[in-house]
Amino acid sequence: MRPTLAEYPHVHSGKVRDLYAVDDEHLLFVASDRVSAYDHVLSTPIPDKGRVLTALSVYFFDTLSAANHLAGPPDDERIPHEVLGRALVVRRLRMVPVECVVRGFLTGSGWAEYQQEGSVSGVALPPGLRENARLEPPIFTPTTKAELGEHDESISLEKVAEQVGTDLAHRLRDAALGIFRSAARHVADRGLTLVDTKFEFGLDPQGQLVLADEALTPDSSRYWPAESPGTSLDKQFVRNWLTSPESGWSKSGGTAPPALPDDVVAATRARYVQLYEQVTGLSFAAWLSLGPASP
Ligand SMILES: Nc1ncnc2c1ncn2[C@@H]1O[C@H](COP(=O)(O)OP(=O)(O)OP(=O)(O)O)[C@@H](O)[C@H]1O
Ligand SMILES: [Mg+2]
Repeated sequence: MRPTLAEYPHVHSGKVRDLYAVDDEHLLFVASDRVSAYDHVLSTPIPDKGRVLTALSVYFFDTLSAANHLAGPPDDERIPHEVLGRALVVRRLRMVPVECVVRGFLTGSGWAEYQQEGSVSGVALPPGLRENARLEPPIFTPTTKAELGEHDESISLEKVAEQVGTDLAHRLRDAALGIFRSAARHVADRGLTLVDTKFEFGLDPQGQLVLADEALTPDSSRYWPAESPGTSLDKQFVRNWLTSPESGWSKSGGTAPPALPDDVVAATRARYVQLYEQVTGLSFAAWLSLGPASP
């Protein structure tokens, strides 16, 4: 008999995930269908988004050689039936409070920072680069981990070193760059460009660095089709609608974003599912057979 969710003490809810204590060493890591954009959690969920994020993370944890936080399979007996497909049992780690961003291309907030500073997170770049330019080699551009509603701030490697020590800072950078390269090669074979991504690491009781949180999902990463650089395959779609005149909303107005129209929801869900299938070569229907459908 599987436990019910109510049997697990609730530990934390982030923008997207809800964490429960399985025991002293393990967490139930539940991905909701919540979507965040511009540091707001939107009022409209995207059906099956939590399942896509979970399925993609499992795929990459299994594919990459880095140590990761998974502590059981997606059908682990400790996972309540009601969250099957969007929950995982993970090792409870001491999280390193740094968002380990890696960029292979100059876009988004990296592009904005480059235009102002000529550098990103203290990494100097040559002058005259254009938006969406390739960064070879990819660069490590960490940010702080902001509280809900706050904006993550870029920090230099030196600042990370001040916070967590030089040795750990260098291990974070090397691990993040290594995983990025290997994932980028992997998805390139599937016709996709991995543009940038954010990793979170934790330390296990032995002090080993472990890849935690989510891995290379459309929430944490930008993907472009290989043949059309600059065309986002992630929630850029939601962002585009929110910043269009149609939404009537302004990023800087200090108000909560409006509900998403049905067609934006459907298109976004389709993009998430399509990305999963393209990256993995697996059918999302097969993953859905794990557990109950979105309400
Ligand atoms: N193995 C782990 N052990 C402990 N905590 C973890 C582990 N993996 C991820 N976390 C934490 O779980 C939370 C996941 O929740 P979610 O992704 O919704 O958060 P977020 O919105 O990105 O950030 P925040 O929690 O600051 O709101 C993050 O705070 C992340 O650091
Ligand atoms: Mg997160």
